[in-house]
Amino acid sequence: MSLFAKKSLSEMLSQAANGESGLKRTLGAGNLIALGIGAIIGAGLFVRTAAAAGQAAGPAVTISFIIAAVGCAFAGLCYAEFAAMIPIAGSAYTYSYVTMGELVAWIIGWALVMEYALGAATVSIAWSEYLNKLLGGAIPYEWCHSPFEGFTDSAGVLHQGFMNAPALIILLLITLLLIKGSSESAMVNAVIVFIKVAIVIIFIVIGWQFINPANHTPYMIPANTPAVTDQAGKVIADYSGVFKHGWGGVLGGAAIVFFAFIGFDAVSTAAQEAKNPKRDMPIGILGSLVICTILYILFGHVLTGVANWKDFVDPEKGREASVAYAISTYMTGYGWLAKAVTIAILAGFSSVILVMLMGQSRIFYTMSNDGLLPKAFGDLHPKFKTPYKSNWILFIFVGLFAAFVPGHVAGDLTSFGTLFAFVLVSIGVWVLRVKSPEIERPFRTPIAPVVSVLGALICLMMILALDGQTLKVAFGWMGIGLLVYFGYSRKNSKLRK
Ligand code: ALA
Repeated sequence: MSLFAKKSLSEMLSQAANGESGLKRTLGAGNLIALGIGAIIGAGLFVRTAAAAGQAAGPAVTISFIIAAVGCAFAGLCYAEFAAMIPIAGSAYTYSYVTMGELVAWIIGWALVMEYALGAATVSIAWSEYLNKLLGGAIPYEWCHSPFEGFTDSAGVLHQGFMNAPALIILLLITLLLIKGSSESAMVNAVIVFIKVAIVIIFIVIGWQFINPANHTPYMIPANTPAVTDQAGKVIADYSGVFKHGWGGVLGGAAIVFFAFIGFDAVSTAAQEAKNPKRDMPIGILGSLVICTILYILFGHVLTGVANWKDFVDPEKGREASVAYAISTYMTGYGWLAKAVTIAILAGFSSVILVMLMGQSRIFYTMSNDGLLPKAFGDLHPKFKTPYKSNWILFIFVGLFAAFVPGHVAGDLTSFGTLFAFVLVSIGVWVLRVKSPEIERPFRTPIAPVVSVLGALICLMMILALDGQTLKVAFGWMGIGLLVYFGYSRKNSKLRK
């Protein structure tokens, strides 16, 4: 059988309809939008907005948000068509199995590990940052940073990371919650989403009065901006690269804040748990995307207006926990808000981690049912009906990254994995339209070839704007994936048997 062996769509749909998967259908449209927003608003907004502004885009991070949103909207439309047509767990992995065959499906599945597993790691690292802020910096630097992070402060003292313990702890708690079951987790998620959206709106409304127009001029980082170094002369931000200043920087910023949109596609991983997937999948995916885009642009405008983007590179100023920093430093009289925001952010990050880990375990589950991963990934808990072994394996894998890898590295790899999947999904929609026009499509991507080509191109552009080092590691990861495929998955594939 060829590398491009495909699953039969009708067979898959009938298996899903007969409930052969064992997952329970408990989620409605509201739950799905909440699941989407739960996964979307998180470290991308509360950490990477400031990083993008400080390292590449300046106040024009608002434009970066628009570019990233356009790419996501196009890809989101393609996801919606697939998710309504193939309402089966596994998201992009499943869609490509049907459309482009097993090898491409494997490649996407492997890229999705970067998206969901490393996404969860990135957010747990951000969680640790804000927890430390809430505790007034009480956690020693070495216990809340990776061994690859460190800087010399203005007093000449060297701070060197060792292990990020809080990140590991939050991952453990959420793993336990997930093992208990998805309807409970969906309820916890809904409450958190409400708090999270409320806090973003409050920050925008109150912060608006504290915008200092001088912070918005110039709007982009000038080409001749000198590099920033710490006390010992180590470079912590360099603006000389193409994607580090001016319009190139805006594009570089888009690749960084792209992280903030990741998650709307997580809705599609839960397709098999949706009550009415054909109607509710497109609503869940596009609804959550639109709401978040509007909030992000306003948020970026206020954050870079309240604090100057240069503050966001300085480890002794707003490089970490940027939102809490901006409020407590520049919004006099709103000390209480800094605390409230920090608590809400901590809760908000938890829901992102939850959805990411849930999405990843569902993808593993599907890949294991297909024989591409060992059976353990598909074993359901006898009582809770959740893929508990998969959750534990994931905890170890994600935990290693969370504890020992810097947040920006995990974050950039997450963006790569997601963008890569988006490119293939965008192309896949078009491929399936041409090859199987007869399949019923409850939701159709408008002007399909244009949207799918533009979606793929914009996402590809953002991939190229990522850091060169990130690209090397990412391609290394994809190479390991191919070894696993040819060494294990291909021989054990159920489709081939
Ligand atoms: N979009 C999610 C976040 O920003 C992954 O945390």
